[in-house]
Amino acid sequence: MSHSGTLPATLPQDPMPIFEAWYREAREHKVQPNPDSMVLASATPDGTPAARVVLCKKVIANPGYVVFFTNYDSRKGHELAANPRVAGVLHWDTMSRQVRIEGRVVFCPPEESDAYFSSRAIDSRIGAWASLQSQPLDSRATLLKRVAIEAARHGTAPTRPPHWGGYHFWLEAVELWCEGAFRVHDRARWTRTLQPSGNHAYTPGPWQATRLYP
Ligand SMILES: Cc1cc2nc3c(=O)[nH]c(=O)nc-3n(C[C@H](O)[C@H](O)[C@H](O)COP(=O)(O)O)c2cc1C
Repeated sequence: MSHSGTLPATLPQDPMPIFEAWYREAREHKVQPNPDSMVLASATPDGTPAARVVLCKKVIANPGYVVFFTNYDSRKGHELAANPRVAGVLHWDTMSRQVRIEGRVVFCPPEESDAYFSSRAIDSRIGAWASLQSQPLDSRATLLKRVAIEAARHGTAPTRPPHWGGYHFWLEAVELWCEGAFRVHDRARWTRTLQPSGNHAYTPGPWQATRLYP
């Protein structure tokens, strides 16, 4: 499946409908084993970067954030607590498309994390209890033992561990890239401001679009 092409000649004011359509197409056509995988970069307050793949479970076009889930006590969890500024990349190789995003994270409302947690397979729910994500582990045997202990403790209906949940990654920059013929790609960047508004949200300003040399 190839989708080389261009962005609209006149850029739309809001990039989110295109981002959402690309994400939906990638998932519907299962263009790769994990079409929702996203490289997520965090940084410590002194600017040391780290990146890893997480699953981008939702793209919410309006008001403009994406959602991922993880262990709040992991390396990324600690980094995000100290510095909420993040960047992400989604790349769909077979669609010749890349989305780069930048912004700030807030915790998902607990009921949203509960709802997603309860939709996960039982083994994944047990795993969230068993894994001390990012901490040293002396052997796989220790992990398997913890999985067995947590499975026995929780039975068939594990509740969400307090250390596990989601983030809303609010977008203050979105860059859409699509591959063009003869390496003449098309690329545009949208930016906006974010004003904090409560524990779980930001109030965004209007998007501004700029086409960039590829
Ligand atoms: C395809 C793929 C999907 C992944 N999805 C997640 C995810 O949704 N959440 C998560 O916490 N880790 C996920 N991981 C594991 C992370 O890449 C990473 O190893 C883990 O979160 C620990 O990162 P940290 O030590 O920087 O916190 C995924 C890895 C891969 C390769």
